[in-house]
Amino acid sequence: MTGGARAPLGIGLVGCGGFAEFVLDAAAGLPGLRLAAVADPSAERAARLGARHGVPALASLDELLELGDVEAVLIATPPATHAEMAVTALRAGRHVFCEKPLATTAEDAAAVAAEARRTGRVLVVDHVLRYNPLLRAVRRLTERGLLGPARRFLFENDASDEDLGPDHWFWDRAHSGGIFVEHGVHFFDAARALLGSDPVSVRATAVRRPDGPVDMVSADVVHPDGVLASHLHSFTHAHRAERQLMRLDHGFAETRICGWIPVRAEVLAWTDEEGALAWERLPSLADALLSVDGFTRHGFERVTVEVERDAGSSVPARGRGEQRTVPHRVRAVLDLGGEPRKPYVYAQSVRAALADLVRAVHEGSVPQADAVSGLSAVAVAEAATVAADTGVAQPVPQIPLEAWS
Ligand SMILES: NC(=O)c1ccc[n+]([C@@H]2O[C@H](COP(=O)([O-])OP(=O)(O)OC[C@H]3O[C@@H](n4cnc5c(N)ncnc54)[C@H](O)[C@@H]3O)[C@@H](O)[C@H]2O)c1
Repeated sequence: MTGGARAPLGIGLVGCGGFAEFVLDAAAGLPGLRLAAVADPSAERAARLGARHGVPALASLDELLELGDVEAVLIATPPATHAEMAVTALRAGRHVFCEKPLATTAEDAAAVAAEARRTGRVLVVDHVLRYNPLLRAVRRLTERGLLGPARRFLFENDASDEDLGPDHWFWDRAHSGGIFVEHGVHFFDAARALLGSDPVSVRATAVRRPDGPVDMVSADVVHPDGVLASHLHSFTHAHRAERQLMRLDHGFAETRICGWIPVRAEVLAWTDEEGALAWERLPSLADALLSVDGFTRHGFERVTVEVERDAGSSVPARGRGEQRTVPHRVRAVLDLGGEPRKPYVYAQSVRAALADLVRAVHEGSVPQADAVSGLSAVAVAEAATVAADTGVAQPVPQIPLEAWS
């Protein structure tokens, strides 16, 4: 990692497991960030990762915090350890980059958010979807009015359990928080970003494999103003049979986003002549549409738009009380290169999240995936877990945003 005009931010990593390796490779050469040391109780894992990046290998977070050049801590340990480590690092005056989930309970997540606010240190949660160009583009299209506000969000996740042996901490709620907490937080946070609201209540179901752990969960999450988000996660597949679909219903338009790390989006929309012209301009605006600070594009992204004029009647059409004259049909494709580009897009999303940390530390900006988004995602994940356990719909605790930002 190299520096700019300012001294680069020294970061120490705790937890030298599989994902830490990916994160450090993704961060290599990021301007403004310098890896200072790594730590893990497994001396072998710490030594291997330390040697790979040419930094000291230590045994614990406490040892990392003894180093003066560790100004920020990257927490990549299993979920149940996150909150205590984050609070310890913040109290020691360090900024924090925390792997998701921010904590395994809302109470602990709130304690971390409160500590970040009290100490004035920056905290970024690695909600990688916040840094994905396609999700960013959908938010921009909604802000510009090309897409109406989404009234429905759906995420179907046929995920792989191929590397999750029966003894993996993932299956043990005491360590992972359960599927809604360990994995669902990405999508509760994505729904919050795309719908622009915090959820109100949740109903949920959990299904157990025969003689085994819960491996399939679903939640229906009600957002304000008649908006419904449905989330399903099923860790039951081989890698090659993984499938994910995120779908947004904007009334006269639909967005379909493929890949858990989104790599391709398709929009189908009905529009009028003014809208058709705006959609047709989109390919020339592709750079701005897909831009995410800190995310370097590979250059083979494509934005294509086809408009079929007068594909429908010019008699006004109605849905949910909204009436519009929209005779033209639009098909827009935003393509980051499909499945083969997933590792690249994933790594760049993590890199952009780390760049967000550096920017927030140096410029005082508010990170996209800040403590509030970490807390909000854990709050709905916990409510979904309780709803599935009890069979009773749960309110999602409302977070007074001004209290945490
Ligand atoms: N953002 C993402 O897309 C993404 C993807 C995968 C994993 N993750 C998250 O990354 C984290 C790590 O996941 P992983 O798959 O690398 O797990 P892992 O089991 O491969 O690695 C965890 C490491 O943490 C170490 N560790 C455990 N307790 C520790 C402690 N008290 N102090 C120091 N080190 C400790 C372990 O020895 C191990 O080396 C999890 O929170 C997971 O949810 C995030």
